[in-house]
Amino acid sequence: MTDASHEVARGPHHSGGVAPSALSAHRIVKRFPGVLANDEVDFDVRAGEVHTLLGENGAGKSTLAAILCGLYQPDSGHLVRNGVALHLPTPRAGLQHGIAMVHQHFRLVERFTVSENVVLGSRDLDFRLKRGQIDERVAAVAESYGLPIDPTATVGDLSVGQRQRVEIVKALYQGAEILLLDEPTAVLVPDEVEKLFENVHAMTRAGKSIVFISHKLGEVVAISDRVTVLRNGRVTGHVSGKGAADARELARLMVGRDIEMRPQRATHPIGHEVLQIRNLSLALGGVGVLSDVSFNIHEGEMVGIAGVAGNGQRELADTIAGLVTPTGGSIAIAGTMCTGRGPIHSRELGLAYVPEDRLGTGLVPSMSILDNLLLTRERSVLVDRTSLRPEAARLIDQFEIKANGPDHPARKLSGGNAQKVLLARELSGGRTTTKLLVVCSPTRGLDVGAIETVRRLLNDARSAGQAILLVSEDLDEVMSLADRILVLYRGRIVHETPGETASLAAVGAAMAGVLQGVA
Ligand SMILES: Nc1ncnc2c1ncn2[C@@H]1O[C@H](COP(=O)(O)OP(=O)(O)O)[C@@H](O)[C@H]1O
Ligand SMILES: [Mg+2]
Repeated sequence: MTDASHEVARGPHHSGGVAPSALSAHRIVKRFPGVLANDEVDFDVRAGEVHTLLGENGAGKSTLAAILCGLYQPDSGHLVRNGVALHLPTPRAGLQHGIAMVHQHFRLVERFTVSENVVLGSRDLDFRLKRGQIDERVAAVAESYGLPIDPTATVGDLSVGQRQRVEIVKALYQGAEILLLDEPTAVLVPDEVEKLFENVHAMTRAGKSIVFISHKLGEVVAISDRVTVLRNGRVTGHVSGKGAADARELARLMVGRDIEMRPQRATHPIGHEVLQIRNLSLALGGVGVLSDVSFNIHEGEMVGIAGVAGNGQRELADTIAGLVTPTGGSIAIAGTMCTGRGPIHSRELGLAYVPEDRLGTGLVPSMSILDNLLLTRERSVLVDRTSLRPEAARLIDQFEIKANGPDHPARKLSGGNAQKVLLARELSGGRTTTKLLVVCSPTRGLDVGAIETVRRLLNDARSAGQAILLVSEDLDEVMSLADRILVLYRGRIVHETPGETASLAAVGAAMAGVLQGVA
């Protein structure tokens, strides 16, 4: 590792050898109460490259980015910009040195126009410029990086992808040379991801440095010149060179052990119909949420519902679970009508349900893990809790639930761990009577090891003959697991395809509502 503080500052276009770092961080340490978020982290980025920070949730990526842009101060360690030691007391100071962060959650003013948002907070904003001139400048900056936006549009009217573009244009307009993109693809559909990657390439061609933050291996391999992997606040490895960064090696660095990259789509005979949904519609407060939804799921079949959040997926799952009464249409589980008959009836017919809202509807916060695990298992009044303790302990271990044993109260669990308890209950073999399993975002917020476990359990449940409805915003997950994929857009099924031959482009387009015949 070169010590950049002793490097002579050079322009980004000097020829020969490796370009010097535009920005480097040395032995960065940052603690939060009870957490060592960055532990002696070294990181650097050169002009014209994409250097990715890869790591699971909580690895310390955002913390390092916040230090690189002046939002947080390190407890120890230092930054070097173009060979000169750098102190950044504020993000404004970062910007003065050409460093800007595009946050995971946008910070735009919805009722302002694109231009107004872009120039907002610019120091050298020339108040004598006419609105039209500002619009022209903003459009010119955007255009030069292939980021088409309408400067006069109101931000509140823009899609998520367009808002992200505004954030990037804002950083460029303010003179950013180094852009920190914190999980920029988390909010995008596949088409938008592709456009973002084109923009990133346009920026690096112009000599900008990109710090790309992600936990998605596929896209990291696709976009990065170099990758630095973080785990529990520590750097576990550096990988450089396009293609050299193979996904399996990165996964190992990220998780600390080998993991199964491709869950096997089980080859199995598909049996009798377990779930039958006919012309289901739902209006909430007079607003149509689901319209004319019909599909079936058979024994040993997993059907995936893909879609951008808020297109009716959650309501569909709640309706099947009997928590919401549909406005029209019918639901049958194992041949018995259960439309509008409530959640207990659905459970009696063999439904297991992992809702989106883990602590609200899934777990009883005041009860222990043990009691939550038993909640749906036994309907008899007398349960021999003692004999089930070892089983609960085994589940805590198997699902890597971070808790002080089976008596740990559910409300004290972090979100990810609450999710694991719920999954353990609904997926573990205890409920031999499960015929239909409805799971919403089963791996969201989990780390890679737990994701692997959950996916394997879903596969096992399918192999055991359960019918599974998998609702997930993680398109990769749906594509790799489901036997059949349905895309929900504005409450309608707009696309159906077998999982095996599904095209990412077609599913992505349907999710974005750009298939023909969709309003
Ligand atoms: N402002 C904060 N206060 C307390 N703890 C924090 C704060 N920011 C991050 N952390 C903790 O630091 C660790 C690293 O978090 P973060 O940098 O956000 O990880 P990542 O971006 O890789 O998901 C986590 O354990 C997180 O809970
Ligand atoms: Mg983060």
